[in-house]
Amino acid sequence: MGTEDRELEGIAVKTLPGKRAKKILDMDRQYLSPSLTRHYPLVVARGKGAYVEDVDGNVFLDFTAGIAVCSTGHCHPEVVKAIKKQAETLIHMSGTDFYYEPQVLLAKKLVEIAPFEGGRVFLCNSGTEAVECAFKLARYHTRRPNIIAFYGAFHGRTMGSLSLTASRAVQRKHFSPLISGVFHVPYAYCYRCAYGKEYPECDFECVSFIKFLLNKVSPSEDTSAIIVEPVQGEGGYVIPPPEFLPMLREICDELNLLLIVDEVQSGMGRTGKMFAVEHFNVKPDILAIAKGIASGLPLGACIAREEVMNWETGSHASTFGGNPVACAAALRTIQILEEGLIRNAQTIGKYLIKRLNELQTTFSIIGDVRGLGLMVGVELVRDDKNPASEAVKDVINYCFRNGLLLLPAGESVIRFMPPLIIKKDEVDTAIDIFYQALNNLRR
Ligand SMILES: Cc1ncc(COP(=O)(O)O)c(C=O)c1O
Repeated sequence: MGTEDRELEGIAVKTLPGKRAKKILDMDRQYLSPSLTRHYPLVVARGKGAYVEDVDGNVFLDFTAGIAVCSTGHCHPEVVKAIKKQAETLIHMSGTDFYYEPQVLLAKKLVEIAPFEGGRVFLCNSGTEAVECAFKLARYHTRRPNIIAFYGAFHGRTMGSLSLTASRAVQRKHFSPLISGVFHVPYAYCYRCAYGKEYPECDFECVSFIKFLLNKVSPSEDTSAIIVEPVQGEGGYVIPPPEFLPMLREICDELNLLLIVDEVQSGMGRTGKMFAVEHFNVKPDILAIAKGIASGLPLGACIAREEVMNWETGSHASTFGGNPVACAAALRTIQILEEGLIRNAQTIGKYLIKRLNELQTTFSIIGDVRGLGLMVGVELVRDDKNPASEAVKDVINYCFRNGLLLLPAGESVIRFMPPLIIKKDEVDTAIDIFYQALNNLRR
């Protein structure tokens, strides 16, 4: 058995960073863009299932899944098999100018699983490209320049999607002028309501404001779409109340706007349904997906209702989009998700939330525990409910040093987004380490 085949089954951490890691970190500092956002010095060598091993042999339990990407776990043997088979047959030809089977098979499958009937698919390489496609398509189809997006939203970092992003100032600073015609409005972040109201007595002031905006500032004749994450990801794993998305759908129907749903992070089974909008019984007109779609190979997709995706030949394309190896990985990934991982996300997600709720009774720093499936966030707060951002850093670092990988989101949220293969005893291990990390804050 080669080293790469050896199972990784338990946490094992010695010194961090180790000797080999230090060397790579030095090179990284010398050669890579300083714009990347690393939270701790993890230098990964390989991954298997829910674990990753670093270059010095330290083993970690991964509750990040490579930022919600490795849905089937690291190097799922069936996905690896599909990748190898396709790589031996055809690696690239470009779906822009030529035809090949994996691309149409994947498009057919995506149309079948999309949360609306009669879809058409544009394949690309990332989340930001899927959003770019959605944004361009909305303008093209409606011939209207404006679009409504939300504060806290993260839609990507290329110029179009960055114009829609309103998550952190550093992501936008010094990049202006961005695309014009984007209007941001407050999201239904009920734990921190922008209007200082309490749900459900709030009368959905956040939705009323959108109507006000459409009435006074950006009339529907000039507005193409509302773009929304059904669960805000980078913004802090914020789950809107059940009425919010149906109300957006209603506005779109009334005023003939398109509803674009960005499921780059919440899609592909993460929330316990294939797409998070299915929890809210809402059918979008355009859907953007990426991350969990191909178990780690770069792939994104924009799926739109057939009558919406009516642009002409040459209006949008991508050299690498719909790469055959990525398509093969996606086809196998979707099959594995359907065979049981989405169900696992539901049941284990509930268990994870239950365990975190228990911790909340012990630690007053836990202001809010929220989640759908395995998209779970814990918001840390100070006594005055202000964000406990420093504590988030301390907790995440403590967990790393003790073998658990976590990432932050929003102002002071820790997100739990393990691969969807995660087991109950692994959740217990994660909770034990998280408990110690919170306890450590008290010292
Ligand atoms: C909801 C959402 N949309 C878009 C993106 C951008 O995806 P990518 O980083 O693949 O460009 C992300 C990435 O985190 C995301 O969470």
